[in-house]
Amino acid sequence: MKVKLAPSILSADFARLGEQVAAAQEAGADYIHVDVMDGHFVPNLTVGPDVVAAVRRHTTLPLDVHLMVRSPELLAPRFAEAGADILTVHQEACPHLNYVLSMLRNLGVRVGVSINPATPVVTLEEVLDQVDLVLVMTVNPGFGGQRLIPSTVEKVRRMASLLAARDASAELEVDGGVTPETAVSLVAAGADVLVAGSSVFNRRGSVAENLMALRMAVERVER
Ligand code: DX5
Ligand code: ZN
Repeated sequence: MKVKLAPSILSADFARLGEQVAAAQEAGADYIHVDVMDGHFVPNLTVGPDVVAAVRRHTTLPLDVHLMVRSPELLAPRFAEAGADILTVHQEACPHLNYVLSMLRNLGVRVGVSINPATPVVTLEEVLDQVDLVLVMTVNPGFGGQRLIPSTVEKVRRMASLLAARDASAELEVDGGVTPETAVSLVAAGADVLVAGSSVFNRRGSVAENLMALRMAVERVER
């Protein structure tokens, strides 16, 4: 399966969001990644369902909504209504994870679960059959533009092995510090979906040039 690229709008120009999302689609993005932060689960605040609804009008790509919020079950229905295609919650934010994942399933969205760098892979063992996507954070969530934590590459490999051992069909997504350089080892470790914010939306190149650089970097990696 071809590696998917999911530009994160966190690093986009929020005053020109529609334009930037359309540029990402035009340049061959596979998903649009939307980072939702609540100022509690992570020390930063970003966007809510209304912004997801606005982005929805500017792209036909799946909206991959990453909920870095406490009690995501309270907000999930509003994001589903706003047009989210994938809703990903954090294991660390859900003491009743099995319940939250079944609730997401009932909303009719694709279901994702994420773990922070310090959270072991095995904490997802009991829920793999409930999810369509597993997101391994390669930085501590909260901010764009951080460096990938090197030990997370090996962790991605362990998550890929666990998914294979369980015959699980979930996509393996990575998020944080993805650049054309780090993408190579992440894809070699088994990543199926690369989230990239600051390496796609920046002043160094156009969205198309930056996405192309990522695509070229991973094209020939053995998986
Ligand atoms: C981090 C977010 C990421 C962020 C990645 O908390 O979940 O999606 O946008 O940004 P980069 O690619 O700049 O590390
Ligand atoms: Zn994210």
